[in-house]
Amino acid sequence: MLNKFEIIEECSLLLDSRDPLKHFRDRFYLPTGKIYMDGNSLGLLSKDAEEALLDALKDFKELGIDGWMNGDPPWFTFAEKLGEKQAHLVGAEKGEVIVHSANTVNLHNLIATFFKPGSGRTKILIDELNFPSDRYAVDSQLLLRGLDPAKNAVVVKSRDGKTIAEEDIVEAMTVDVALAILPSVLYRSGQLLDLQYLTKEAHKRGILIGFDCCHSVGAVPHSFSEWGVDFALWCNYKYLNSGPGATASLYVNKKHIDKAPGLWGWWGYNKSKQFDMDPDFQPAPGAGAWQIGTVHLFSTAPLHGSMKIFAEAGIERIREKSLKQTEYLMFLIDNLLSGEPYNFKIGTPREPERRGGHVALEHDSEAIRINSALKKRGVIPDFRFPNVIRLAPIALYTSYHEIWQVVQHVKEIIDQREYESFPKERETVS
Ligand SMILES: Cc1ncc(COP(=O)(O)O)c(C=O)c1O
Repeated sequence: MLNKFEIIEECSLLLDSRDPLKHFRDRFYLPTGKIYMDGNSLGLLSKDAEEALLDALKDFKELGIDGWMNGDPPWFTFAEKLGEKQAHLVGAEKGEVIVHSANTVNLHNLIATFFKPGSGRTKILIDELNFPSDRYAVDSQLLLRGLDPAKNAVVVKSRDGKTIAEEDIVEAMTVDVALAILPSVLYRSGQLLDLQYLTKEAHKRGILIGFDCCHSVGAVPHSFSEWGVDFALWCNYKYLNSGPGATASLYVNKKHIDKAPGLWGWWGYNKSKQFDMDPDFQPAPGAGAWQIGTVHLFSTAPLHGSMKIFAEAGIERIREKSLKQTEYLMFLIDNLLSGEPYNFKIGTPREPERRGGHVALEHDSEAIRINSALKKRGVIPDFRFPNVIRLAPIALYTSYHEIWQVVQHVKEIIDQREYESFPKERETVS
């Protein structure tokens, strides 16, 4: 009988044989001859998602404009129905989630809705490790209100360049802050913030709070409504496997549903009256009001297939396996790659409640070249400046044996100094 984990290959095979989710792997197209460890950046295509996209094309081919009401499912309410199917992933109530637009566009709309500078509160709280697009959105929204980002973006600093301490965030929640926008999981280190605690502390101080959950939805369960989160947003092309540029999602807590969205468009109009073409905007009674223009059918349809898989697998079981897989990966790194001459470190917090779905493998001098050598060997990770190779075992399609193989590849790349034949510059898309 094996201990929990051992470094021998047999352990990975045993873990696979006991994996209750292993059959979901057959539902995905796995790139031939590769080990795909980048599903936290772009998730793989499933057969379900492909079928849903082909069904949408078939409806378009056969029904033309009648697809709005007679498509299967009807296109007119497609985004609302998909929002309902996503509710269980984030702990939302009916009508609080809508599938719409791109993540950054949704962030603009949500800031335009929730940022009401006045009564001495003119600032937006963010953190210095957040994804750059969020920072651009915050700064440009401040500029639109005539506010100087240098004075009105409160940027919480990281103590170690990898993580953000929750107490530092809370300390920055001063009386002049109107809104806080934070990541759920930090895209580089994989740190998972305590969303419930931060929401409670923000509200105690009269601050509204929203989270960019691109790196958590589909990997980590959330309970937005129970925690009272004001709003959230996420993309569907990472853990939700809906394809490059797939339509994104947003959540608005029902306590704010009576607020008019910041940006109005006819697709956010009360659906039963949308075609009255009334020039006075009447928002839909739900997160649907945050839609601006017509649903992007072919960028949305794959999510319909994807959500079938999530409904079957269940987000709690996915999280359980994901934690076990990242723990196994870290065990192998600690035991095989941390000493001389390997010198790898782990930049991801160890505590299960503080980590998302990927592991940040750090190498101070050669991360770019090791990343390139891995790709040459058919392992697909990604590189994040300055020293991080991100490795994401995806519960729905990565096997424990693949994790074991990835670590052997890294070890051999160092043993044979294979990385030395690669350029030191990162690729355009890394
Ligand atoms: C955390 C985070 N926020 C925002 C974005 C940008 O999203 P989009 O390009 O879909 O607007 C990304 C993209 O990877 C991301 O990882």
